[in-house]
Amino acid sequence: MPLYKTINYNSSTQILVWEITETFEDLFDQVVLNDINMIRLNTMKSELHQRGFLSVRKLLQQAGYNDFDLYYDESGKPHLKDGKFISITHSFHFSAIIISDQKAGIDIEMQREKIIRIADKFVDYEFHFLKPEKIQEYIRKLTVIWGVKESIFKIRNEKGISFKDHIKVTTFEMNENQGRAWLHIDNVAKDFNIYFEEIENFTLVYAFEN
Ligand SMILES: CC(C)(COP(=O)(O)OP(=O)(O)OC[C@H]1O[C@@H](n2cnc3c(N)ncnc32)[C@H](O)[C@@H]1OP(=O)(O)O)[C@@H](O)C(=O)NCCC(=O)NCCS
Repeated sequence: MPLYKTINYNSSTQILVWEITETFEDLFDQVVLNDINMIRLNTMKSELHQRGFLSVRKLLQQAGYNDFDLYYDESGKPHLKDGKFISITHSFHFSAIIISDQKAGIDIEMQREKIIRIADKFVDYEFHFLKPEKIQEYIRKLTVIWGVKESIFKIRNEKGISFKDHIKVTTFEMNENQGRAWLHIDNVAKDFNIYFEEIENFTLVYAFEN
């Protein structure tokens, strides 16, 4: 049962990370699912996705919840019935959740060279401080920026949001493990505190709306 990591950010915010080493059957036997999520599980095409989904239920258990405490709205955004904020992510053999009294979003991404090829789809302002010639650092920073933008999207869920045009991440260094970001869309302007860390060759990012 590899709970990989718990981050107690403050007294009302926990980040939990699971390393998925269990089989589908092991995970399935250890969690409860409501009817809707049982149907969803059965319609998932890949076993990796199913294991990610089930491992999130293991993380919920760790935090004192189960699947019946959770519901999804029509956009797919998860909510806890007790009014706390939750955000969920899974990627390959990791999954993570954040539960908080503050509006929070989380994302975990594998660091991959191919992110360079899609950089101009989600980066604009940040090109001012990125240094493409330092290729390893460039990949790591792009992965942080992507995770920040996904996390903010998960918080705001804004229609018509463009990662490139509407979300800006301010300059940061990898060893700082934190930074700031802004969302400007139509008449909405919000700022966010962001945190990131690397786990193996994955990047975990979480963001809080101020
Ligand atoms: C929905 C989205 C945020 C999911 O992110 P992802 O990296 O594909 O996958 P993750 O594993 O990190 O996150 C999946 C989880 O996000 C949550 N989620 C799904 N839709 C969501 C939404 N609208 N708002 C908040 N959270 C959402 C769910 O909990 C989901 O997991 P679950 O269904 O198993 O519980 C993403 O697919 C998306 O639509 N992003 C924005 C679109 C965009 O503009 N992208 C490209 C810009 S260049």
